[in-house]
Amino acid sequence: MKYLRMILMFFVLVSSSLVSTTHCVDGKRNISKAEANDMEIEKKLRILNKEPVKTIITEVGDTIDCINIYKQPAFDNPLLKDHKLKERCPLGTIPIRIKTKKQLLNAKYFITKSKSIYENSYPNIGYHFVFAEEIVIGKRYFGGAAFMSGHNLTVDPNQFSTSQIWIMNATEQEINTIEFGIMKHPEVFGDSLTRLFGSWIRGHQIYGCYNVLCNGFIQVSYDVFFGQTFSQSSIYGQVSYDVYLMVSKDLDGDWWLSMGPNAEATENIGYWPYEILTLLRTSASAVRYGGYVGATSQAATPPMVNGYLPQLGDYMKTTFMRKMKYTNEMGGLVNLYPHSVRTINGTVPQCYNVMFAGHIGSWENTMAYG
Ligand SMILES: *[C@@H]1O[C@H](CO)[C@@H](O)[C@H](O)[C@H]1NC(C)=O
Ligand SMILES: *[C@@H]1O[C@H](CO)[C@@H](O)[C@H](O)[C@H]1NC(C)=O
Ligand SMILES: *[C@@H]1O[C@H](CO)[C@@H](O)[C@H](O)[C@H]1NC(C)=O
Ligand SMILES: *[C@@H]1O[C@H](CO)[C@@H](O)[C@H](O)[C@H]1NC(C)=O
Repeated sequence: MKYLRMILMFFVLVSSSLVSTTHCVDGKRNISKAEANDMEIEKKLRILNKEPVKTIITEVGDTIDCINIYKQPAFDNPLLKDHKLKERCPLGTIPIRIKTKKQLLNAKYFITKSKSIYENSYPNIGYHFVFAEEIVIGKRYFGGAAFMSGHNLTVDPNQFSTSQIWIMNATEQEINTIEFGIMKHPEVFGDSLTRLFGSWIRGHQIYGCYNVLCNGFIQVSYDVFFGQTFSQSSIYGQVSYDVYLMVSKDLDGDWWLSMGPNAEATENIGYWPYEILTLLRTSASAVRYGGYVGATSQAATPPMVNGYLPQLGDYMKTTFMRKMKYTNEMGGLVNLYPHSVRTINGTVPQCYNVMFAGHIGSWENTMAYG
């Protein structure tokens, strides 16, 4: 079998000026609630969409703003006022995919939805997930990593589908998660392309969001960023592409996200500072590897990732994760203990399912899902 590695996309730099969004308000007129909300959103957008040093148009037509690394939105979070960057961005700027009003509203909406899902422990109608997880009572996790296969099945505008890792800790009152992986989510991204994502949730009064749509994640990479697309995708029965993604806690307690064509050549994308999370300040109680689909209207939920039920025979015909590992207290990457891994196939296993293969040669711990 031939396993090609994902090739990171390189962008063509295009110099252009950005049209700034200024919003004029007539001070004397009475402002309706809807209008007030609108102004609030516009204000937020102005904060998020800082003046770019440069604007890049990608191969897929995305507008990417290069903003001064110290002016990135995360530093507007009062919690992070004194947070120092640990890495220098060679160009002094970092890429942020341009944010629209709709994306901002949706990012907030979906985080609220995610929380209601965790609280019920099983998804509501319209949301389904499957995952594998190592269950060892009292164990502490400091990160999670895996190669995830990339696929390119189209979803409808009100549907989404992800391959992801959840890093979490919960008490009876609240939940904290960091989620990362690859996703199709037209309502968050504006189109149905497969894109890199990360999100975080904290608290009882829900706080958190996708990507950098609110202030939390600190970007350090100047070329890998949330919302970026992938240049290749697997073709059923013919070729599999995968990408290595990892989140690992460093000695300062921050949760670093990195990505690469393999585990030895990853690039740090950025980090969720420990200050923004409460229950994940020391460690996580669980790391879950799986897929998540949903639909926001009455519409049917979409197929998960490649659209086929999992099987453990032919990895050209299934969505998979391989080299599933976690980070231990010493910062080392360690294999899950196969006998302690359980799978959760959700409420409709005839539609969405997951199978854990255990340790298979150089692929190490591997699972199939979809
Ligand atoms: C503005 O709204 C207030 C309270 O609803 C109302 O009393 C006032 O007459 C309105 N003014 C104008 C100019 O419409
Ligand atoms: C994914 O599918 C879309 C729509 O068919 C296409 O435009 C895009 O090039 C594909 N991307 C990859 C990486 O195969
Ligand atoms: C989860 O959060 C609780 C409350 O902060 C904490 O006591 C516990 O140690 C955390 N669990 C792990 C594994 O870090
Ligand atoms: C789904 O999981 C349950 C509980 O582990 C198991 O009993 C059942 O056989 C699984 N169903 C399928 C179709 O895999």
